[in-house]
Amino acid sequence: MARVALVTGGMGGLGESICVKLAALGYKVVTTHSPGNSKAAEWLQTMNNMGYGFKAYPCDVADFDACKACVDEIVKDIGPVDVLVNNAGITRDMTFKRMTKADWDAVIHTNLDSVFNMTKQVMDGMVERKWGRVINVSSVNGIKGAFGQTNYAAAKAGMHGFTKAMALEVAKSGVTVNTISPGYIGTKMVMAIPQEVLDSKILPHIPVNRLGKPEEIAGLVAYLSSEEAAFVTGANISINGGQHMF
Ligand code: CAA
Repeated sequence: MARVALVTGGMGGLGESICVKLAALGYKVVTTHSPGNSKAAEWLQTMNNMGYGFKAYPCDVADFDACKACVDEIVKDIGPVDVLVNNAGITRDMTFKRMTKADWDAVIHTNLDSVFNMTKQVMDGMVERKWGRVINVSSVNGIKGAFGQTNYAAAKAGMHGFTKAMALEVAKSGVTVNTISPGYIGTKMVMAIPQEVLDSKILPHIPVNRLGKPEEIAGLVAYLSSEEAAFVTGANISINGGQHMF
C-alpha cells in the first residue's frame, strides 16, 4: 500500500517540489497551507489537473491544537502518516537592533515550535508501526548564522537539536529523524532578498556559482524518505553548493 507523506508548507517553493517528487515516487501526498492562503484552492486544482492527486489541509503549524485537529483529520481521511516533512517556514529578516518581540516570536513559533507540534501528532504511530521518516528542513543559516536573521538562525539551529535528540529516542523503532540544511535556493523567499545584497553578499560565497534548484532539495528528501536511507538518522545534510563546507 502507498505510504502517506505529509509535507507542511507544501505550496511554497521547496514544498511544491518535494510534493511533486514524492508523488512521482508513489507516495500519497498530503500538504498543509496557512489558513489565510487565498491561493490554496487554485494551487490544488492546478496540481491535481496535472494528475498528482494531492490533498491539502489548512493548518497553522505554530498552533499545537490546530496541528492535532489537522492530523486527526488526515488520519481519518487518508490514513496514518509515514513520512513527515517539516518544511513550513517564514522569515522576518532584520537586524537585531530593529527586531521586535513579535518578529522573534513569529519565526520561532512557525519554524521551530511547528516541529514539535507536527511531530507530536505522528511519532507514536510511527513507533507502533515500526516505520517512519521525519525530515526537518533547516537552513545553511542555522549552521553559519546570517546577518539579519537572529530569529531564523536560532529556529533553524534549534531544529537540528530536536532532530538529534528525537533520532536517539526512536532509533530502535525503525523511525529515522534527519535535518536537511539547504543553502540559497531560487525560491520566492530568496528572491525577496534585495538584489544588491544577493549579488554582493551571497552569490560570491556559493562556490558552484548559482542558486540551488528546488528539485535538488526534493531529491534529497526523497532519498531520506526511502527504504535505502534506513541507516541515516540524526544527520544534518548540507545541500548548499559548497557554501559552507566543514
Ligand atoms: N553582511 C554584512 N553586512 C551586511 C549584510 C551582510 N550580509 N547585509 C547588510 N549588511 C550591512 C550593509 O552593508 C549596511 O552597512 P552600512 O550601514 O555600513 O552601509 C548595513 O548592514 C545595513 O544594511 P541594509 O541597509 O540592507 O539594512 P536594512 O536594515 O535595510 O536591511 C537586512 C537589513 C534586512 C538584514 C537586509 O540586509 C537583508 O535582507 N539581508 C539578507 C538577509 C538574508 O540573507 N536572508 C536570507 C533569506 S533566504 C533564507 O532564509 C532561506 C535560507 O534558509 C537560506
